[in-house]
Amino acid sequence: MKIAFAATECVPYAKSGGLADVAGSLPKELEKLGCEVKIFLPKYSSIDETKYGLHYNWSFGELPVRVNGQIRSVHIHQSKLPGSKVEVNFIDCPHYFHRHQIYTNDADEDERFILFSKGIIETLQRMQWVPDVIHCNDWQTGLIPLMIKDNYSWDKFFNAVGTLFTIHNIGYQGRFSKSVLLSAEIHGDYFYPGGPVEHGGGISFIKAGITFSDIINTVSNTYAHEILTSEYGAGLENILFKRKEDLFGILNGVDYNIWNPETDKHLPYQYSINNLDGKRLNKKFLLEHFNLSFDEKIPLIGIVSRMVAQKGFDVFASAINQLMNLKAQWVILGSGEDRFENLFRQLSNKLPEKVGAYIGYNNELSHLIEAGSDMFLMPSKYEPCGLNQIYSLKYGTVPVVRKTGGLADTVQDWDEMSHYGFDTGTGFSFNDPTGYALFKTVERAVNCFKNKKAWDKIRKNGMKKDYSWKNSAEKYMELYKLAKESRI
Ligand code: ADP
Ligand code: GLC
Repeated sequence: MKIAFAATECVPYAKSGGLADVAGSLPKELEKLGCEVKIFLPKYSSIDETKYGLHYNWSFGELPVRVNGQIRSVHIHQSKLPGSKVEVNFIDCPHYFHRHQIYTNDADEDERFILFSKGIIETLQRMQWVPDVIHCNDWQTGLIPLMIKDNYSWDKFFNAVGTLFTIHNIGYQGRFSKSVLLSAEIHGDYFYPGGPVEHGGGISFIKAGITFSDIINTVSNTYAHEILTSEYGAGLENILFKRKEDLFGILNGVDYNIWNPETDKHLPYQYSINNLDGKRLNKKFLLEHFNLSFDEKIPLIGIVSRMVAQKGFDVFASAINQLMNLKAQWVILGSGEDRFENLFRQLSNKLPEKVGAYIGYNNELSHLIEAGSDMFLMPSKYEPCGLNQIYSLKYGTVPVVRKTGGLADTVQDWDEMSHYGFDTGTGFSFNDPTGYALFKTVERAVNCFKNKKAWDKIRKNGMKKDYSWKNSAEKYMELYKLAKESRI
């Protein structure tokens, strides 16, 4: 099976969130299952060419790609995904990809990913490599299924190429003005109220992906059901409902070569389920880093997150006084919306003996927080999969989560009142997206922390869990077959 894997983030080259972890690990597992995978990624100016051994492919030369009526020169650089033979193709177009960050609010944001989509298609032609399936990820690649079935249908090359569209987050839709019809050369027939690319009077990249791909999936079973409802569907529930026979949920896996406390090179002290001494030392180290004092009896609660409404920080803010009254310490790492960044900045200024906050992006610190914290909080409003709670399980850091999407699928409740969950409980969760429910659940976890025997059991239940990619990669193989068979 030959798979072209299109994504706008990929570890270790460029990352803003979990999509990068997925793109940097699923292809390796697919390769182990006998797939030939080629990843396609924009060549952002932030990518370190020397560090990652990128080289220019002279034989492909220049590809002229038309976007918004202008011809742009595209060049291809290549490298191998570290730890594998998976080829990574970097679509090089400085005009669009030499910006200050991966995603922007620039006026030509739509054009950037039109160029990326066309660039992938034209590179495949130039390579003369016919994939069985193009695996598209999120709205930025949503036009690809439409383009191969329409704009590029003159080329028989794509006749039998299936498309799988993975929704990592339906909250991000790629909605732009009608002018995209011209800049992407989309047939005007597709644009009418309720039509395949129209949404709210403009163009929606994600809707195009949902409509024109052969098979669709999202990144957990629960989220696959949730997005069919008006609460979670972000206005696309009816479109998705029409395609519900073709919609699947596959839970993300984890790359335990990167996220494993036994081998994690970012940690000052490594540790395992059989010897948790290192975890205690990491906690001390982490607390020192934030100028917080160490007390064995006080639990440390970690947060690593994009600071956006999706992650439930409104709810967190509404319970902040009660939460801060708990006998616990907090370390928070994240960046995003000003209002949330300020909330945490102010909190650490006001309570410097209790709260440490780092506003920004810091990969090393994210590993240290996973390892050094006792609990990990994710009060998400919605969470398609969520990776940090899965990392937390492996690091013996007990997740406290809202029961939604992938959080519901990966965290099993501990119930301290009965023996229910004694052998299976791995964390604490709550249903209602309210400050009260959040506070009560954190309070339960903080109380349970005092019971060393119970706590040891919960965290070891979690550490034993295996969320490696193998199972999920096999499920992707099934979807690729289906996408190929159902190619229309
Ligand atoms: P999402 O993709 O919605 O942001 P996930 O839980 O799937 O959520 O993945 C988030 C990924 O991004 C994790 O690998 C997490 O460690 C990382 N991450 C998020 N914020 C930061 C940050 N400020 N610094 C370092 N890593 C971060
Ligand atoms: C999205 C989701 C997150 C998921 C990640 C990778 O960013 O918000 O829940 O884990 O994609 O699939």
